[in-house]
Amino acid sequence: MTTGFPKNFMWGGAVAANQCEGAYLEGGKGINATDVLVGIIAEGTHPSIKWNEETKRYEPCYNPDKVYLSHDAVDFYHRYKEDLELMAGMGFNAFRTSISWARIFPNGDEVEPNEEGLKFYDDLFSEMRRLGMEPVITLSHYETPLHLLTEYGGWANEKMIDFWLRYVETVFTRYKDLVKCWLTFNEINNLFRIPFAAGAMLDINPSDVNEPISGLTIKQKYQGAHYVFVANAKTVELCHKIIPDAQIGCMLSLSHIVSYPYSCNPEDVFGAMQFQRNHYLWSDVMCRGEYPAYIHRIWEENNCKPIIKEGDLEVIKNNPCQFIAFSYYMSAVFKDGVGMAAGTGGAKGAKNPYLTMYSPEPWTWPVDPKGLRYLCNVLTDRYRLPLFIVENGIGLDDQANENGEYIDTFRMEYIKMHLSEIKEAIHDGCDIMGYLYWGPFDIVSAGTGEMKKRYGFVHIDRNNDGTGTLKRTKKKSYEYYKKVIASNGEDL
Ligand code: BG6
Repeated sequence: MTTGFPKNFMWGGAVAANQCEGAYLEGGKGINATDVLVGIIAEGTHPSIKWNEETKRYEPCYNPDKVYLSHDAVDFYHRYKEDLELMAGMGFNAFRTSISWARIFPNGDEVEPNEEGLKFYDDLFSEMRRLGMEPVITLSHYETPLHLLTEYGGWANEKMIDFWLRYVETVFTRYKDLVKCWLTFNEINNLFRIPFAAGAMLDINPSDVNEPISGLTIKQKYQGAHYVFVANAKTVELCHKIIPDAQIGCMLSLSHIVSYPYSCNPEDVFGAMQFQRNHYLWSDVMCRGEYPAYIHRIWEENNCKPIIKEGDLEVIKNNPCQFIAFSYYMSAVFKDGVGMAAGTGGAKGAKNPYLTMYSPEPWTWPVDPKGLRYLCNVLTDRYRLPLFIVENGIGLDDQANENGEYIDTFRMEYIKMHLSEIKEAIHDGCDIMGYLYWGPFDIVSAGTGEMKKRYGFVHIDRNNDGTGTLKRTKKKSYEYYKKVIASNGEDL
């Protein structure tokens, strides 16, 4: 029985290329899906694209009244050495970021990769290693080249599998000595909820050109999900072939699984289970290697069974993920047929009367550390796989005091409460690989596209209107997390 954090526990933080790098058109990079969004929840169904009647294609069309903060973000592209030094100063032994697909294949359908993009990640991953951090690399974090959506419809099209595999093979081959821990698609269970960014899907033959996302049918979405499952399995297969000593996992947004029935009314209990299944589906397929029994009725009743080609199920069966990486921020409740939408942009729906809502309006969400222990346990019961918490954190509107210091007390409290429950989960028998705090230096919010909502241990001077010096300043939580890591989680 293990009590306390294991010796080889991975401690660190996580970011995504599109939220920190900036330099959105430098180094030969093409435009990706998030470049035409201000925030994926705020505007996920209305990307800044417009229909060109002549070419019969969507094209980027930026709104001059909006600030696309991700275009410059916090300039990690040029300042990563300084940022990684700061992370090393806290004792990180792991750091998660993503490869921006459009830096490697700017349009996504080229045959040859962009050497400048490849070189950037060579340098970045080497620097992580030099500083003693294991690179934990997400292959896709809302960064699909826009051209693949506008030209092909993204994952609604089977051709995506080949474009994806060319990209994946390229990066596996290039970084095989530097990266031994890979995640496939970030929060891919959000494909239905955020089809443009998370699902990289677009209706390229729309009946209404102003609604290219909401025009996607449920059948198209399940078909897209199936292509993603096939691509995921083939990615696992390629990874084992090219980097036999690497580990590869799926990555899911699992705050949704912690959807409690609001009452003991069997309707709430059964409804919550069905709601959870919308999210279990993804790990069921990617980790157990087969579609679950409950999916057949859903396909039949909604007339949305995807086309499954011969050999697809075999490839899925033979290539399950080796671990489950996930984000967890909050829990939700299921009441009267409706699940509370757990969202970092602000939770909506019925509130759990036993939990405190935290984080300033409008982003407020229920803080539920015990929910994380519950989640680790249900995942362990269901899959018996190692778990990797690769996102957890709290977005606050941090302000300097009169001495210029950032005293982010609640952030420390939030981490302490969650790590205490992780420790309990380990004691319960869960195999937990590590804890990567989300946004260890301030980055652009994915959901709302703001800088004001900050997660970092390091403040970065950039504002919602795009102004700021980009100066980096340690917050109080920096010393706290350093102490936690130094004691291997004993001193919380
Ligand atoms: C996760 C995403 O859902 O939540 C991240 O993988 C995101 O990209 C994080 O940044 C926090 O959400 P937000 O909207 O506060 O940035």
